Amino acid sequence: MKKTAKANSNIALVKYWGKRNEQIILPTNSNISMTLSGFNTTTTVEFSSDYKQDQVELNEQNLSEGRELEQIVKHLDLIRRQAGMEEKAKVVSKNNFPTAAGLASSASGFAALSLAASKAAGLNLDKKELSILARQGSGSASRSVEGGFVEWLKGSKEDGSDSFGNQIAPPEHWPEFRMITTIVATEEKKIKSRAGMKQTMKTSPYYKGWLDTVEEDFNVVRKGILDKNFSVVGKTAQKNALKMHATMQTTLPPIIYWNPATMRILHSVIEWHESGMDCFFTIDAGPNVKVLCLEKDVEELKKRIEALDGVKEAIVCEPGEEAKTIEKHLF
Ligand code: DP6
Repeated sequence: MKKTAKANSNIALVKYWGKRNEQIILPTNSNISMTLSGFNTTTTVEFSSDYKQDQVELNEQNLSEGRELEQIVKHLDLIRRQAGMEEKAKVVSKNNFPTAAGLASSASGFAALSLAASKAAGLNLDKKELSILARQGSGSASRSVEGGFVEWLKGSKEDGSDSFGNQIAPPEHWPEFRMITTIVATEEKKIKSRAGMKQTMKTSPYYKGWLDTVEEDFNVVRKGILDKNFSVVGKTAQKNALKMHATMQTTLPPIIYWNPATMRILHSVIEWHESGMDCFFTIDAGPNVKVLCLEKDVEELKKRIEALDGVKEAIVCEPGEEAKTIEKHLF
């Protein structure tokens, strides 16, 4: 059977940084994201006995070896086990944005793959089961199954059955919320989040400080979203992102994702905020900054951001929809 799914990416307001179980991907801390309109992955999956091995095409390139292919095949194996089948699959997937520059392509990628492949395998998973499946491909993908504002609860069970993405509020709850993604680099980053968080847990003296304070950020941002309190959500999200970067910058060897254009944006957003503009930033494991604001300021901010040296593009995202199956197949 052939099925196609489309999933939006997400950006965390309270970050996931560290695993308590690497095998089935369980986080050390609960975290919160906004699903983005605008950055998405579309994936078509077909299982058939005609295929002698799994074939994967990503952004018009056949994957013949490497870690990406291994991760996708491992995920298909998981789905085959759940469905009690052995047929190999053809997977064709397309992002509408550059892969792996801190734009969370693994989030939309594994959410779309999980939905398309589970449907194609004849599994009819509910949202929670789908999120648990997506989580095992990439942690942040557990949040892209849902739309709007989403929490990924760390859970306490060893089998991960209580660790999944859960909607805090749908997109309609706060339609004025915006994230302006500034593109300063589109090349693939040298250190993936997976390796970065592992190294941080092992060697950063500040990781304990992260663990000691992230729960409070989680509670504050969660309530701020429900209250639609922009300054509380923005201020806490910005602090949380900087704390995450402080932990990775103090590992051995250090991980510094920022480049001069990144720094220019960070300083500018702080300066604009100090002079009265309602704006904050967040930043993932990459050089591209996301500026948080409300609809009323988006035009002015976009203009200011685009005028900064080194900014290639500024893309405005709104709270986006949940992952969905669609009729139009990619092959
Ligand atoms: C910095 O979900 O890409 O974007 O679970 O190892 O695949 P794996 O990691 P991934 O990590 C995302 C880290 C982050 C923060 C976040 O999205 O919460």
